[in-house]
Amino acid sequence: MIDQEGSFSVEAPSNIAFVKYWGKTGRQYPINPSVSMTLKNCVTTCDVTFRKSDRLELVNYRFEGRDNQAFKDRIEKYLHDISDVCPMLNNLAISFETKNSFPHSAGIASSASAFAAIGYALAHIEGNKDIASRASELARLGSGSAARSIKGPYVMWGAYEPLGVSDDYATPLEEVHANFKSVRDVILLVDTGTKSVSSSQGHALMNVHPFKNGRIEQAHHNINKILRSMQNGDWEMFGEVLENEALTLHAMMMTSQPPAILLFPQTLDIISKVREFRRDTALPLYFTIDAGPNVHLIYPEQYAVEIEGFIKQCLAPLCKNGQYISDENGMGTRLIHE
Ligand code: DP6
Repeated sequence: MIDQEGSFSVEAPSNIAFVKYWGKTGRQYPINPSVSMTLKNCVTTCDVTFRKSDRLELVNYRFEGRDNQAFKDRIEKYLHDISDVCPMLNNLAISFETKNSFPHSAGIASSASAFAAIGYALAHIEGNKDIASRASELARLGSGSAARSIKGPYVMWGAYEPLGVSDDYATPLEEVHANFKSVRDVILLVDTGTKSVSSSQGHALMNVHPFKNGRIEQAHHNINKILRSMQNGDWEMFGEVLENEALTLHAMMMTSQPPAILLFPQTLDIISKVREFRRDTALPLYFTIDAGPNVHLIYPEQYAVEIEGFIKQCLAPLCKNGQYISDENGMGTRLIHE
């Protein structure tokens, strides 16, 4: 542990999966490897205060300037659950004050940025030398996708021998072509309400899913293809995998027992308009979708002017109150004040 007491702040981004983590086993291990892009603007800022104590105490958890009992209960359980792998917690009194740069109801995975911030904070207090791997491991134990928010701009998590990537923590991708240097993610907010099925419920359903083995095989195939496309700068191959992954995720949810249909009519409308735009313009604009109705549009920054014009004119009217969020690839979690 670095000190008897202290305070500091961490900023952690959200991320968007290209190849999806869907299904887990054991202690928050993924059933297949995933690849994601770390975002830049959608971040959680977390002010941390800590001191030594004779027991583990989550003194306070405030979110957006207010005490939040539901979040506090979740974080308290998380801290107790991981105290065996992070024993310093048994002698720590800690408080978190967090806020998000994006609206809570935006349907953006706020658990990824929140747990990345907390995992990073704990690794920092531990004084761990390999802070990124340790932070990613601790974040993973809170929320799987959070493991990928520690580093950027592209990250892989889940055992994959050719690159020495592990199930325990995420690893940044080294060899990415210049065509993927500056990439945008525009998040079209089709709906901002609470999802009818949580990710955790969805992961659990995968364990008894009739297509589970096929999905694992397909994910490996898609990982190989997307890594190749990102190394070669091949947007067409990249886009094919990206969209296949989004549709597969929803196909898995629709064919699970009980089934979940999270896509909205507007989501399907957006998909067909994106495909039409691509046919008409030959510009590399592709979509992905997480476990909800909102659509992430992924494209190279160099086409931002044409694509943003299309989004404003044709896609924003399909969003709730015309809302969308513009983001781009970012570098991961960092300490902002010490
Ligand atoms: C569809 O990381 O939210 O966004 O580990 O239970 O917290 P928990 O699940 P979570 O699952 C994310 C699923 C996904 C795909 C992805 O981000 O890879």
